[in-house]
Amino acid sequence: MLEGDLVRLRALERSDLPAVVRWMNDPEVTRYLLSAPLCGLDEMERWYDQHVGTDDRALALMDESGDLIGYCGITRLDWGERRCNLWLIIGERRAWNKGYGKDAVRTMLRYLFDELNLNRVYLTVDEENHRAMRIYEACGFKREGIGRNARFKNGRYRNDVTMAVLKREWKR
Ligand SMILES: CC(C)(COP(=O)(O)OP(=O)(O)OC[C@H]1O[C@@H](n2cnc3c(N)ncnc32)[C@H](O)[C@@H]1OP(=O)(O)O)[C@@H](O)C(=O)NCCC(=O)NCCS
Repeated sequence: MLEGDLVRLRALERSDLPAVVRWMNDPEVTRYLLSAPLCGLDEMERWYDQHVGTDDRALALMDESGDLIGYCGITRLDWGERRCNLWLIIGERRAWNKGYGKDAVRTMLRYLFDELNLNRVYLTVDEENHRAMRIYEACGFKREGIGRNARFKNGRYRNDVTMAVLKREWKR
């Protein structure tokens, strides 16, 4: 269990997956996501079986009352280069803009830098996902580059922004 000021993070359980499926079928939630939405429970369970429990970590995100509001995790953990990719989705829209996202990123970075002793945490975000970029920048992420027309979504090509934070520049 990881404790932030507002959120708590624990391992994602199979019993959390119906909520995840509901979020992944909400167009408002998936609007800027890079991965394909509209998955069903079978597909989500396959993803869970193949990835969770490996170096790919998926964590359930809970608010102060213990209610499940989203999930987050890491992929592409590279022990040699001491880096990983981070992702975060707050699926309950009522929980947006209340500071949970920023607190979740801070809590994960504390774990990744202080406990796992990683050196670099990076991510990719839709150029128009201003809310997400705001929290990443508040946590010390810097923009490193743009993937022009990186993806086709909702009828047009969209740019991706790569961002990363290094351990030495992380704002605790
Ligand atoms: C993006 C997401 C993780 C942000 O989490 P959150 O809990 O809503 O964000 P927080 O409340 O911690 O912070 C939001 C910040 O963005 C700001 N913000 C909100 N809407 C904004 C907008 N349209 N443009 C710019 N800034 C905006 C808020 O003012 C706040 O900044 P502040 O703390 O300086 O005032 C969450 O909304 C989410 O999961 N959305 C759907 C999935 C998604 O896009 N995930 C990210 C994929 S990279």
